[in-house]
Amino acid sequence: MRLEGRRAIVTGAAQGVGLAITRALLAEGARVSMLDRQADVLRAAAAALGKAAHAIPCDVAVDREIEDAVDAASKTMGGIDAVVNCAGIAMFTPFDQVSNEQWSNILRVNLDGPFKLCKAALPHLRAAGTSTIVNIGSTVGIRPTPNRTPYCVSKAALIMLSKSLALDLAKDGIRVNVVAPGRLEMSDMEDKFQGAEALAARMREMRQNSAIQRLGLAAEVAQAVVFLTSHESSFTTGSTLVVDGGAAYA
Ligand SMILES: NC(=O)c1ccc[n+]([C@@H]2O[C@H](COP(=O)([O-])OP(=O)(O)OC[C@H]3O[C@@H](n4cnc5c(N)ncnc54)[C@H](O)[C@@H]3O)[C@@H](O)[C@H]2O)c1
Repeated sequence: MRLEGRRAIVTGAAQGVGLAITRALLAEGARVSMLDRQADVLRAAAAALGKAAHAIPCDVAVDREIEDAVDAASKTMGGIDAVVNCAGIAMFTPFDQVSNEQWSNILRVNLDGPFKLCKAALPHLRAAGTSTIVNIGSTVGIRPTPNRTPYCVSKAALIMLSKSLALDLAKDGIRVNVVAPGRLEMSDMEDKFQGAEALAARMREMRQNSAIQRLGLAAEVAQAVVFLTSHESSFTTGSTLVVDGGAAYA
């Protein structure tokens, strides 16, 4: 039980990586306030996870909802000492077809959302004395892939936000790190932007291009988050932990 007594917020917790992170934090003894904009899916997921999981519907693109959700989380759990910003949206579109609205929307969810949530949670994280923020980036925030300019930029900026916050918040006992996954198995994040055939071909290519010769699992990303949330990583801040099976170096 590496997280006994810890009180965590996880955004994007209704499904996928955020849900896997929630499960992993709960398994280590934390209580988790699960935030997501899919209210019904979120409530069903939380109900299946037991009493230590709390569903708090929240769209991280809406300022007021973030403030209300952080307030509710703090009241429900008696404080907040861990934040995991996982809510994110992706797109796969050639640059000349990206609308200004799509650009703004990606940055609003993937970058402004974490910034505003960290800001809203800051008084609680400070009050806890020792606390952590983990932002879920992506390897494309380090090395871009084609036709994903807004997404790559949002994830690169999220890494810099995390490094900057690590500097500014160390004096408050708050560590800030990034987990940067490569392409994961069982994710439908991009399916709606690509034909099934193109996606299958790309995933085959990515499996072959990985040192470990497969794609990652959400549960493997979650274990990296557990490490960066636990005291085991007490001297780690401003870091980006890449979880991509060696793909970046293959
Ligand atoms: N799946 C991958 O291959 C992969 C790879 C690298 C990084 N990531 C990152 O992992 C994170 C989760 O990805 P996933 O594959 O689980 O995606 P997903 O689409 O399965 O889940 C994302 C969740 O975030 C929620 N969400 C989206 N916008 C929101 C908003 N405005 N407010 C609140 N909740 C919102 C969705 O409702 C959903 O439950 C993202 O930040 C993504 O960039 C994923």
